[in-house]
Amino acid sequence: MKIFIGTQEEIAKKAAQRYVDLLKEKPNAILGHATGSTPLGLYAELIKLNKEGALTYKDVTSFNLDEYVGLDGSHDQSYRYFMNENLFNHIDIDLAKTFVPSGLDTSAETAANYDKAIEAAGGIDLQLLGIGNNGHIGFNEPNTPFGSCTHMVELTESTRQANKRFFNSIDEVPTHAVTMGIKTIMNAKSIILMAIGSAKAPVIKAIVEGEVTPEIPASVLQLHPNAEIYLDYEAAALLSK
Ligand code: PGA
Repeated sequence: MKIFIGTQEEIAKKAAQRYVDLLKEKPNAILGHATGSTPLGLYAELIKLNKEGALTYKDVTSFNLDEYVGLDGSHDQSYRYFMNENLFNHIDIDLAKTFVPSGLDTSAETAANYDKAIEAAGGIDLQLLGIGNNGHIGFNEPNTPFGSCTHMVELTESTRQANKRFFNSIDEVPTHAVTMGIKTIMNAKSIILMAIGSAKAPVIKAIVEGEVTPEIPASVLQLHPNAEIYLDYEAAALLSK
């Protein structure tokens, strides 16, 4: 895994450059997007570059990692809403080519169709990831099988606590989500994982320097041939080298 360390602004700019380079080479790239606080700096940078004409999403297709079960896309805490608000509505992407797992139809067939749609589009060229304090990627919580495809999951208490800041109370935080599986993520041709802040430092040390184990889902990225990790100084603080 290649690791880049800098200020939040530096890593957002550096990650954005990967999108500029990829879309220059492949304007119809398939992009895997992520939600959460971490990608906001990158998304702001991508919006700026798109407005300046440095990159276009005209021919891009997007697949998001996950969605809360029970939330419709118009709910302001749904990940569809997040993506529209924080990226899609501000760039020249065709909304019809943006996909987020359904939080309302949680059947196994619909989940399997999400993987099939990714495959039919040609596979994800660049998948963006955040990371949970427990090492989750997407909503693949600890001990999710590495062979998993898109599926419904029960959120751990720690994930619900971490995300309750966006809701009025813990009771409103959904208990389940639909997420790309670990295999879906690992099938991406290249991956960028971003982490900022000291709360992520222990898990970053574990995924970079520890063993590959389903107990820490993101550790699987050690097995990916083209995974890059972008860290701010706080998130990188416990790395030994
Ligand atoms: P965060 O979430 O970017 O809000 O820290 C990351 C995640 O839980 O995957």
